Amino acid sequence: MSIISTDLSKAVELLNNEELVAIPTETVYGLAGNIFSEKAVKAIFETKERPFFNPLIVHIPNIDYLKTIVEAIPEKAKLLAEAFWPGPITLVLKKKSIIPDLITGGKDTVAVRIPNHPTTLELLNQLDFPLAAPSANPFNRISPTKAEHVESYFKDKIKMVLDGGACKSGIESTIIGFEDGEPIIYRLGSTSIEAIEAVVGTIEIKNKKEVAPDAPGMLERHYAPKTKTILTSHLKEAIEANKNLRIGLLTYNDILTDDAIHFKIVLSEGKNLEEAASKLYDALHQLDQQDLDLIIAERLPNYGLGKSINDRLQRATK
Ligand code: TXA
Ligand code: MG
Repeated sequence: MSIISTDLSKAVELLNNEELVAIPTETVYGLAGNIFSEKAVKAIFETKERPFFNPLIVHIPNIDYLKTIVEAIPEKAKLLAEAFWPGPITLVLKKKSIIPDLITGGKDTVAVRIPNHPTTLELLNQLDFPLAAPSANPFNRISPTKAEHVESYFKDKIKMVLDGGACKSGIESTIIGFEDGEPIIYRLGSTSIEAIEAVVGTIEIKNKKEVAPDAPGMLERHYAPKTKTILTSHLKEAIEANKNLRIGLLTYNDILTDDAIHFKIVLSEGKNLEEAASKLYDALHQLDQQDLDLIIAERLPNYGLGKSINDRLQRATK
């Protein structure tokens, strides 16, 4: 029997009973549990086979709730929260002691956001606690953007996927930390750097080596298909060099055909980066199911969400 359901009251009941429910957000599906339940939070790590040092994002219902869980809100964090919440930005702030160490991997900061999905906002409003929710995929696998993706990963491990349709943004939230009140991007994501800079001015991106221990979303190998994947700006040459293999192609808008290509997905024929982001993970899920020897992915333009998509594709090649 399918574990996918739209029954909100059942989701509320399971979460109140310290069980896990996979929830829809505008970015990817999350594997959610009560942040104050040790049983639920441990189950999140166990279900995902995720190491305990890798901290979780706390999902809250409204901006007001922020002061319950963080010590201080830097001015620029406030500007970002007001500009983008509910939405795909996660802020890393000094935590209050009410936040269990298990959530933060023992750190003194907590990652927090308000997701922009009507079903999940309604769910959060009906609960007396925030939800810890990492992406609902096993550690190092492709994040889920449809209820069916979660079901295929976890049907024997969790009782329910709350169905909210396909995720609109399609890649994870942009994570922003603060050093001396100044914002720093820890993980590229669904909110573009350009949009963030329009609110807080020029912003630094910490390279992954600097933040790797802090933000394992920045781990080199992440978001990965099982099939070997390469990323290139030169599709024709890459196909030519691998003609003896069973090739799958992931392109931005190129409708190129070649006998060597067994399966092909075009992310956005009209060259729209938002559309490409929303389709990215589903495309990787589909490509990974075709028994291919090699996925050749085309590098996207390096601005706006193209930067975030290239970041994910780069990690898929490791
Ligand atoms: O869009 C999203 O952010 C999705 C949806 C479900 O909200 N969630 C998500 O969670 O992507 P997850 O666990 O897959 O990625 C969370 C990232 C991890 O890389 C983690 O290391 C980082 O957030 N993180 C969490 N707390 C942190 C902290 N205190 N300091 C630095 N990084 C932190
Ligand atoms: Mg993840």
